Amino acid sequence: MNKTIIITGGAGFIGSHVVRLFVTRYPEYRIVNVDKLTYAGNLENLSDIDRMPNYVFERTDITDSAGIQAVFDRHRPDGVIHLAAESHVDRSISHPMDFIMTNIVGTVTLLNAARALWDGNFSGKRFYHVSTDEVYGSLGAEGFFTETTAYDPRSPYSASKAASDHLARAYHHTYGLPVVLSNCSNNYGPNHFPEKLIPLAINNIRNNRPVPIYGSGENVRDWLHVHDHARAIDLIFHKGRNGDTYNIGGNNEWTNIDLIRLLCRIMDRKLNRKAGASEQLITFVKDRAGHDLRYAIDSSKLQRELGWTPSMKLEQGLEKTVDWYLANEKWINAVVSGDYERYYEKQYGQIKN
Ligand code: NAD
Ligand code: TYD
Repeated sequence: MNKTIIITGGAGFIGSHVVRLFVTRYPEYRIVNVDKLTYAGNLENLSDIDRMPNYVFERTDITDSAGIQAVFDRHRPDGVIHLAAESHVDRSISHPMDFIMTNIVGTVTLLNAARALWDGNFSGKRFYHVSTDEVYGSLGAEGFFTETTAYDPRSPYSASKAASDHLARAYHHTYGLPVVLSNCSNNYGPNHFPEKLIPLAINNIRNNRPVPIYGSGENVRDWLHVHDHARAIDLIFHKGRNGDTYNIGGNNEWTNIDLIRLLCRIMDRKLNRKAGASEQLITFVKDRAGHDLRYAIDSSKLQRELGWTPSMKLEQGLEKTVDWYLANEKWINAVVSGDYERYYEKQYGQIKN
């Protein structure tokens, strides 16, 4: 094994796809998955690769500095790909402190551990901080977020991610830590926790439950398949420039209501329902507080400098995603058991059927 890489948050949605890509594509790397296993972390996501000889799991909270230092001492990583986070905007509105702790304190804890281990010897070392386009705030009808767009976060989630981005950059400028960042648009695909719009809607349609749309449904998101994000992370980790930031986006802007109508048509077909049946489940509910209107990413820097392009349009990716959820009922039934119903009741109690 010629490199050891710590991937944080590897049991989550995007992290599990990144772990799988690295473990299978780079048998010469040792991949250490560091995850606390919150409600969003699920080792089942990695059951196909967790016996590979180059994979190790460490259950550790990234805010626990002694625990993180011990993991760094034990594994002496050459690289860190940092994805662990509290990631759901609605939860950040009800529980902001969890986001401050994990997203800000946790990130600094990791930066400190890398700095202490590498001790100024940065050759062959890299700290990759994975972030979101939500740090840029909300767009009107026109324009795109570029790498130089001023930060303007508007939810406790995006504000905590913005703070962590600033700290990662500050460690590069102040201590010379070899840091690289990316800011990505909304992801979708297999293993997405069903508190987020697309998997929540798939699960509700499957169970003939109302599909909640916040406000008027006119909010716009730029959707990227998680495999395309994982490919971009691979490229940026290996070829990105230290101190640089890369925007990653899908060129797939959809209003929430158009996206859900498309999903309903796909689900009608897959479930052999009468055309229009699933659309009857769409239910407009109270808007999210401070709901950002539109996100759209200009990823031309990544395309130009590193040759990355998204491979999947939403129509095709959504079809494949629905197939995955319908073929993996066991996975979804397991993740919606336990605490999930309590969360759902609190968030959507008013529309429960
Ligand atoms: P997720 O919520 O599915 O997974 C997060 C993972 O982090 C879980 O496995 C969880 O157990 C782990 N975790 C949480 N707190 C932890 C802690 N204190 N210590 C250790 N592990 C902890 O999130 P995701 O959607 O896969 O997002 C991963 C990263 O990508 C996040 O940093 C997020 O901000 C970023 N991102 C997400 C999207 C998206 O659309 N989901 C888009 C752009 C960027
Ligand atoms: P989400 O998947 O939570 O991602 P983010 O807030 O990070 O963009 O939400 C995507 C969009 O869907 C967002 O505009 C909020 C909206 N939404 C609903 O309309 N209903 C829902 O039940 C959820 C979870 C989200």
